Amino acid sequence: MNEISISMSRYMRDNPRLKYIFFGGKGGVGKTVMAGAAALWSAKQGRKTLLASTNPVHSLSNLFEQNVFGRPVMVCDEANCYAFEIDTRDTIERSKQEIREKINWFLRFADITTKAEDFIESATMNPAFEESAMFENMMDLMFKDEYDFYVFDTAPTANARRLLGMSKVYGLWVEKMLKSREEAKSLREMLSFSKKEEQDPLLDYLISFKERMSHAKDLLTDKALTAFFFVTLPESLPIAVITRFINWFYEFGIPVGGVVVNGLIDKSQVTADSAEFVRNRVLMQEEHMELIWKTFGDRVRAVLPLFETEVKGAHMLNRLVEKLMADGK
Ligand SMILES: Nc1ncnc2c1ncn2[C@@H]1O[C@H](COP(=O)(O)OP(=O)(O)O)[C@@H](O)[C@H]1O
Ligand SMILES: [Mg+2]
Repeated sequence: MNEISISMSRYMRDNPRLKYIFFGGKGGVGKTVMAGAAALWSAKQGRKTLLASTNPVHSLSNLFEQNVFGRPVMVCDEANCYAFEIDTRDTIERSKQEIREKINWFLRFADITTKAEDFIESATMNPAFEESAMFENMMDLMFKDEYDFYVFDTAPTANARRLLGMSKVYGLWVEKMLKSREEAKSLREMLSFSKKEEQDPLLDYLISFKERMSHAKDLLTDKALTAFFFVTLPESLPIAVITRFINWFYEFGIPVGGVVVNGLIDKSQVTADSAEFVRNRVLMQEEHMELIWKTFGDRVRAVLPLFETEVKGAHMLNRLVEKLMADGK
């Protein structure tokens, strides 16, 4: 079966409550341009749309040819299409400050006279901390609920999966923390005869954090609301990457919306006289298309051509929307 059975536009029609969509895949395959096209399409449907990126590279500003760093900026004529490159440095600083307060409080609470800075350093100086700050940003946007439709242009490689997988891990972690905090609390109460009603900001924080996580998990695993799309080129590495991603996502119970194939050379423009590397490339792509159909089958939602220029600015984006959302099956 080498054809699309449920197209992107059909998928959107069949899932009218869809509200959060993501694009994942290897770097450079076209996640950002697809996210841009999907957001533009949604805005054209009359829905107030936010296209958000947690990627430190200013790819959305580049795509829309205007600065969208640090706040949501209107990026299309439809007047309800916003793009937003989230400034993660802000969040990281805020989280560090929060953690500093919590740790200081805890050290006082436990009568430990150690410098808090050492703890703070070890808690915040790792890549996972940055990722969790990005996840927090995303959740904040989702919970604020100021838009009808959200498109997330997620960072390449394994971040996307970790971002979502983390909600489950966090849940377990917080559960454990809560338990030991509660034990510590009652122990302290027994030993110190202190007032039972004493405030415990750390415990309060953990409880609210856990609630946020479980709310995020509910939204992100709801097939009616959320879909993750995977973008690939007809090349072996990008295919391998999303094959792995898709398996992970099934494991986590995160809804997979389907696969978008990008960058297919239009064979009708290639003749025996075309440059040898072009002809070779077409042959290579043909082979990889076979693999794509075999591996992803009825989950392929669209196959997009390699355009003669990069995708940038309103005109090219509109061309991409037409192809991505082509009315088909
Ligand atoms: N179908 C296409 N035809 C031509 N250029 C494309 C196409 N899709 C993407 N590009 C270009 O390829 C580059 C990588 O795309 P991008 O969306 O930034 O990838 P990613 O976000 O996955 O890293 C960009 O310069 C983009 O304009
Ligand atoms: Mg990108």
